[in-house]
Amino acid sequence: MELKITCIPGDGIGPEIVAEAKKVLNKTVEKFGHSIQYTDILMGGASIDVHGVPLTDEAIATAKSADAVLMGSIGGDTTTSPWYKLEPSLRPEAGLLKIRKELNLFANLRPAILYDELAGACPLKEEISKAGFDMMIMRELTGGLYFGERKTVTENGVRKAIDTLTYNEEEIRRIAIKGFDIARKRKKKVTSVDKANVLDSSRLWRAVVEEVAKDYPDVTLEHMLVDNCAMQLVKNPAQFDVILTENMFGDILSDEASMVTGSIGMLASASLNDSKFGLYEPSHGSAPDIAGKNIANPIATILSAAMMLRFTFDLDKEADAIEAAVKQVLKEGYRTVDIMSEGCTQVSCSEMGDLLVERI
Ligand code: IPM
Ligand code: MG
Repeated sequence: MELKITCIPGDGIGPEIVAEAKKVLNKTVEKFGHSIQYTDILMGGASIDVHGVPLTDEAIATAKSADAVLMGSIGGDTTTSPWYKLEPSLRPEAGLLKIRKELNLFANLRPAILYDELAGACPLKEEISKAGFDMMIMRELTGGLYFGERKTVTENGVRKAIDTLTYNEEEIRRIAIKGFDIARKRKKKVTSVDKANVLDSSRLWRAVVEEVAKDYPDVTLEHMLVDNCAMQLVKNPAQFDVILTENMFGDILSDEASMVTGSIGMLASASLNDSKFGLYEPSHGSAPDIAGKNIANPIATILSAAMMLRFTFDLDKEADAIEAAVKQVLKEGYRTVDIMSEGCTQVSCSEMGDLLVERI
């Protein structure tokens, strides 16, 4: 199979971690008899520096013509980088929001897994963490507050800002279907998270999710209010399988869930549309403070590449090979600095890539 992949190295540690993911992908496709055609595009600060905008129409067209997009990370230090002196629509993050919308990437999958080998990094008490956890946050990604009408006005000398939270039933239904489909391949439980005690958009969310659930009698559905969910994630994370939620709640809860694993450098993500197309990226950010030092953890990006093989290309064996290699290096005690612990061997970003290549 020929895989057409667009890469977005991006900003900060992005270029380093994408380079390692490419190394691992190249070895994997070589081993299994496939080939890859890569095209790189600029996004975020890297694009601002060259084109004055965080994402050009040509870059979007290139991304659209590929089967999948593999991204590193975008953005810089919001207090010191000149990118943040630009108006909001020209800042690095605007490029990310634009590509999500233009490619209709409405389903964001963010796994949060406590790896046995890294259980010590979990910040929760052992009595809680010993149960382990493996959850998938399904975040709606192209609606809600992020894309509703917004404006800032002055009325009678008083400044006022308005953001709008809108969802229609179709937007809710399509993400709910994806959530139930994925739950079916996992532990068959969906926790739908909303704020139905206050928000109309949440009441519609709840009603539509219940309608969709009727087609999945084998999957258990429960509803949870978002504030309670924030508590439950630290009190009893083992209870969750698929967490299905809207854009803003998903943004916040997915950061919380990743922190609870204690190893955000390990967490992958996928953003999918209605077809097999997807954008794959690590859950962590661009870490400008450690950029260019060859110490970043490339594993989240490498696992994102594995998700790409699985979800876009249906190459399960190939994805398994990458995930097995990751487990193997951890078992052998190799760690980048962010997940380093006593008795382990500390390695650089590129050394971690090399170790994984050897184990594919
Ligand atoms: C994320 C990020 C983005 C978001 C930012 C960078 C716009 O926090 O992917 O979670 O809020 O969606
Ligand atoms: Mg976020």
